[in-house]
This record gives sequence, structure tokens and C-alpha cells, in this order.
Amino acid sequence: MANGILKGKKGIISGALDSNSIAWKIAEKAHEEGAEIVLTNAPVALRLGEINTLAEKTNSVVIAADATSEEDIANLIDQSMERFGGKMDFILHSIGMSLNVRKKKAYTDIKYDWMHKTFDISAISFHKFMQCAYQKDSMNEWGSILALTYIAAQRVFPDYSEMAESKALLESFARSFGYHWAKKNKVRVNTVSQSPTLTTAGKGVKGFQDFFGYADAMSPMGNASADACADYCISLFSDYTRYVTMQNLFHDGGFSNMGMAPEVIGL
Ligand SMILES: NC(=O)c1ccc[n+]([C@@H]2O[C@H](COP(=O)([O-])OP(=O)(O)OC[C@H]3O[C@@H](n4cnc5c(N)ncnc54)[C@H](O)[C@@H]3O)[C@@H](O)[C@H]2O)c1
Repeated sequence: MANGILKGKKGIISGALDSNSIAWKIAEKAHEEGAEIVLTNAPVALRLGEINTLAEKTNSVVIAADATSEEDIANLIDQSMERFGGKMDFILHSIGMSLNVRKKKAYTDIKYDWMHKTFDISAISFHKFMQCAYQKDSMNEWGSILALTYIAAQRVFPDYSEMAESKALLESFARSFGYHWAKKNKVRVNTVSQSPTLTTAGKGVKGFQDFFGYADAMSPMGNASADACADYCISLFSDYTRYVTMQNLFHDGGFSNMGMAPEVIGL
């Protein structure tokens, strides 16, 4: 259904690990819609090599950057601007990882070194991307900066552990920095709160499969897919959503406004 709504636009897409990644779908659709993109991921993720397939498919390059490293991010922004021949129009932050979840540490027995690292990877990196782009004046007027989040920032989902606080921080950065970007040159900053999705990051959460089914039954439209999320993100990079900023936008088939679903209790 490509309509060329990103024709002439340029941007950075982080977080495409494999073809299940939400960022992978966003990169494919951005390319289909006419955008020129640069892909980025952590050096360790690049070693898996799958991202090169995406780069070929989307006629883009891959620039390694650990999202916790200010130096890597500065290099990413510089190299991207060089490739684009100037400023860019969008940045996607699609990065999340919890050390305590990965190492199966309970929320009531958190290792704080790991918690700091989790916040750095999953939330502070968003501020780092924005601050670097801001200081280098690398966004065009009416550009769009987007990060992916989850409703555990507002409600309790016990197995999501410290990722809940990571997402709360991430969403807060979107609001706070959104003000400065709007004032600087009318750049939008938003977070998209996506349904549970079968990806590497998603499957890392304990009991994900059962939880995925529960959310699907609770949502009157069912869970939103990664493909549908990509469509929504493309609209947020386009010129059709210029005044949407400093928002957390639910893309979840209605889950966030449900109280009780007969389907869940077998009525
Ligand atoms: N899958 C879900 O259920 C779901 C739901 C809502 C929101 N999200 C969010 O969507 C985003 C993308 O996740 P996904 O589900 O596509 O999974 P994914 O595992 O495909 O993507 C996560 C990405 O983060 C990258 N990453 C991790 N550490 C990094 C670092 N130090 N530097 C740079 N990159 C790093 C990984 O390499 C990977 O590409 C995340 O923010 C996630 O929290 C996911």
C-alpha cells in the first residue's frame, strides 16, 4: 500500500535485529514509502549479520553504535549526515534490554548495577540520541523522533520487572525533550506504546506466550502486529502528523482502555 508519503525524507532506524524486529518492518516500510535510511544497532548485534540482508533490501548502510556510548552516537549522527548530505527528518529509537530480566533476577532481588545498565540501554540512550542530534543541529524543521514503549509504564505487569521503570523514563524523556525540540525547530517527539509482539525482546519476558494470548483476548481488535505498528510509525514520520508531539500514543487494538473483557473470563 505504498503511497510515497516519505518521499525525500531521510532518517536513522535503530534496533533491527532480525526479521521479527519491529524496527525491521519499519525500515522496510520507510524504504517502500520513499525514505532514505541509515540502519544502526549494537556492534554485538551486527555480528549476527542478519541486518546486512535488510541493508541490501532497503539500499541503506549499517553504522554500528552501542546506544549507551555518547561517542558511538556522535559518530552515527556525523556519518549519517555525511551520507544524507545534510540534516535528517526522522529518528527511530527501537532499543530495549533488561539485564535483570535476562539473568532471571527477581524484581524483589534486583542487582542495581544491572538496573543502571538497563536504564542506560533502554531509556537514557533515547536522551543521548536526542541531545546529540540537538547539539549537532541535525534535524530538519518538522522532523519526527519516535521511540517504542509498553503500557507497563502506567500499569503493573509483574514479569516486566525493571523494564516498566525504563519505559516510564523513556516516555518522560519524550515529553521533556519534546518541548525543547518543538521550540528549536518544530520537531515532534513521541512514544508509541505497542501491543505484545513476538520478537527477541518480547520473548525474553517470562510467560510471554500466555501473556500474549491474554492481551489478545483483552483487546477488542486483538493485538496489533509489528506490521501494523510499522504503518503507524510511518504515519508519524510523515507530514500528516506534524502537530502531534510530546505524546504517548497507544497502538494496542484498544487494550489500554479496557476494564473487563468477557472473552478473558469465558463469558
Ligand atoms: N516485543 C514487544 O512485545 C514490545 C512491546 C512494546 C514495545 N516494545 C519495544 O519495541 C522496541 C523494539 O523491540 P523488539 O520487540 O522489536 O525486539 P528486538 O529484540 O528485535 O529489538 C531490540 C533491539 O535493541 C537492540 N539493543 C539492545 N541493546 C543495545 C545497545 N546497547 N545498543 C544498541 N542497540 C541495542 C537489540 O540489538 C535489538 O535490535 C523495544 O524498545 C521494546 O521494548 C516491544
